[in-house]
Amino acid sequence: RTLLHKHLVGERILVVSNREPYIHIRTGDTVEVHRPASGLVTAVEPVMRACSGTWIAHGSGSADRETVDSHDRVRVPPHKPEYNLRRIWLTKEEEEGYYYGFANEGLWPLCHIAHVRPVFRTSDWQQYVRINQRFADAVVKEADSDDPVVLVQDYHFALLPAMIRKALPKATIITFWHIPWPNPESFGICPWREELLKGMLGSTILGFHTPYHCKNFLETVDRYLETRIEHESSTISRRGQLTMVESYPISIQWPPAWQGTLPPVDVTRSEILGELGLPLDHLIGVGVDRMDYTKGIPERFMAVERLFELHPELVGRFTFVQIAAPSRSALEEYQAFEARVHSHAERINGRFSRDGRPAIILKAEHHEPEQVNRYYRAADVCMVTSLHDGMNLVAKEYVAARDDERGALVLSQFTGAAHELHEALIVNPYHVEQTAEALHRALTMPDYEQRERMRSMRMLVRDFNVYRWAGRMLLDAARVRQREKLAARIG
Ligand code: G6P
Repeated sequence: RTLLHKHLVGERILVVSNREPYIHIRTGDTVEVHRPASGLVTAVEPVMRACSGTWIAHGSGSADRETVDSHDRVRVPPHKPEYNLRRIWLTKEEEEGYYYGFANEGLWPLCHIAHVRPVFRTSDWQQYVRINQRFADAVVKEADSDDPVVLVQDYHFALLPAMIRKALPKATIITFWHIPWPNPESFGICPWREELLKGMLGSTILGFHTPYHCKNFLETVDRYLETRIEHESSTISRRGQLTMVESYPISIQWPPAWQGTLPPVDVTRSEILGELGLPLDHLIGVGVDRMDYTKGIPERFMAVERLFELHPELVGRFTFVQIAAPSRSALEEYQAFEARVHSHAERINGRFSRDGRPAIILKAEHHEPEQVNRYYRAADVCMVTSLHDGMNLVAKEYVAARDDERGALVLSQFTGAAHELHEALIVNPYHVEQTAEALHRALTMPDYEQRERMRSMRMLVRDFNVYRWAGRMLLDAARVRQREKLAARIG
């Protein structure tokens, strides 16, 4: 936080993302506030609370319009306002084209290797361009100087940096891509690849989670655009605009918001087991995801099934709890995936549930962060088995939740988190046998080993927390601006 403040003296930052941090929902006579299941929101929200300023996002809740002022703004967090949330309204057609269509049927499967074929429709692309322009106009309106600091978030806004740059040439634009960046061949199938790249190169800083994603991006630019790339400083220069491409592994707030306010782990564990109707000596595992085909949920369930086949002594002694928040459910791909997840759970429960002790408990509904945290604290093991994931903050949240230094993490090698959390049990989720064995190892891990692994992972998350993530980007942005000024002076 100190690092962050040092680089923001006198600044009011602007954040742009598609997903909003607080969603107001009407249920009967009351308005409830939901915090969405989104890694982006988990990471950026504490940064925004630390900095204040304005967050511009798509207003998506049924009661969102009731809570805004005449400038479409609401102060948040609702119970302790610290910054402005400016909502942008989209029509059904706009949301279908820009969000469901181009962003989630096109770019999402394009960037994640989950073997789901991207769909590119010209009409979706046109909406994507229009909505990016709409958000760029909002940034210009919200900016209170001609050189604001703007943090552009994710694949919904690839065109935004160049659009903002055109209107505000002196702006410091920091763009962060929260999902993987594929290799040039894969990216090259997108019919609007050049436009997307040119849009992103309006940024001062362009951040990815890992050096590998940066390398892929540089190679993609090299393949499809005329630019000058300086590998040593990792900068791209195009038509006088300098963009630095760097890896900034995203993280979470530290210390965690709940620190010191929660009951001891043993108490939470007994409560959760009681709520699930399980005996006190039962072992539990947890998975927390959006219901998304990149998350490897069927693969995880198959590993649980294989665990019971290989270790029958655990049948009736271990239950895996999967929390799966509904996501993008208007898309057929997601509906089919959800049906698959349910049918795997039913099949495995048919084989391995005993006397009211299910093998798998599938909770396919929204859970607020406090609830999720209780499960983290109660679970003997957390499984993150994404087929591909930019970072995956669930892995870091689980580690942060375990202030008792117990529990074990099974983590897919295809997440950004696996590059940092070396003390997790790293698996290839496509390898069911290996994942099942890692699960067994987690459930039989001696206390001292759990403690050593957890302690080391907790130190990593503490030291590389989300304030450091944002602070490093701001510091680098200041350096690029200095270089640019110098270059302009000496011609
Ligand atoms: C990923 C994306 C985020 C997105 C989140 C939730 O983490 O990178 O941009 O907010 O998924 O998805 P949703 O479509 O519900 O916002």
